[in-house]
Amino acid sequence: MTAHLAELLAEARIVPVLTVPDPRTAAPLARALAAGGARCAEVTFRTPDAEQVVKAMAAQGDLVVGAGTVLTAEQAERAVAAGARFLVSPGLDDEVLDTARALGVPIAPGVATATELMRAIRAGIDTVKLFPAEPLGGRAMLRALAAPFPGVRFMPTGGIDAAALPGYLAEPSVLAVGGSWMATPALLASGDYAEIRRLTAEAVERSLP
Ligand code: 3PG
Repeated sequence: MTAHLAELLAEARIVPVLTVPDPRTAAPLARALAAGGARCAEVTFRTPDAEQVVKAMAAQGDLVVGAGTVLTAEQAERAVAAGARFLVSPGLDDEVLDTARALGVPIAPGVATATELMRAIRAGIDTVKLFPAEPLGGRAMLRALAAPFPGVRFMPTGGIDAAALPGYLAEPSVLAVGGSWMATPALLASGDYAEIRRLTAEAVERSLP
């Protein structure tokens, strides 16, 4: 399961993190991200209609759609029922991990310390979200945290923008970088899909070796 997530993230390299208040914007958003070259997207469960957003984006068919900000087992169940193909959480919660395992859906739990990373490894996880990456210390922190754990791969997220993207992706421990800068709440509110597409294409371009 986690091997599959690692493969997806290694191919995608960027994971647009989306907080979408209005499900009617989900389809054009999915089209803009796909047109920009994104392979996957993470829909956060921070809005009441996140399930509808997952469903509508998945129905577009061009993106592997996952769910983010999954805080509870119940949210994990709802996300997967809506069509989420992977789960992301800001932290490490045993019930959420157990639920993901029972549902057969890969999950990247969030870690911010070596202790949390050791707990994740003990739970059979090998792909984690480093969160919140920039406030924690950015690339230097990531490198130091990753050093004792050569088998673990990271998706740093939190405060990252297009300028910081190549630096993170240059780290051998990094599979992909997550962030909301490609489709900010302001861009979504104004329906500026052309700009979302442009920012996504720019990120894809910067993610190339
Ligand atoms: C997340 O939910 O993973 C982060 O809040 C996204 O971080 P960003 O908005 O700083 O990119």
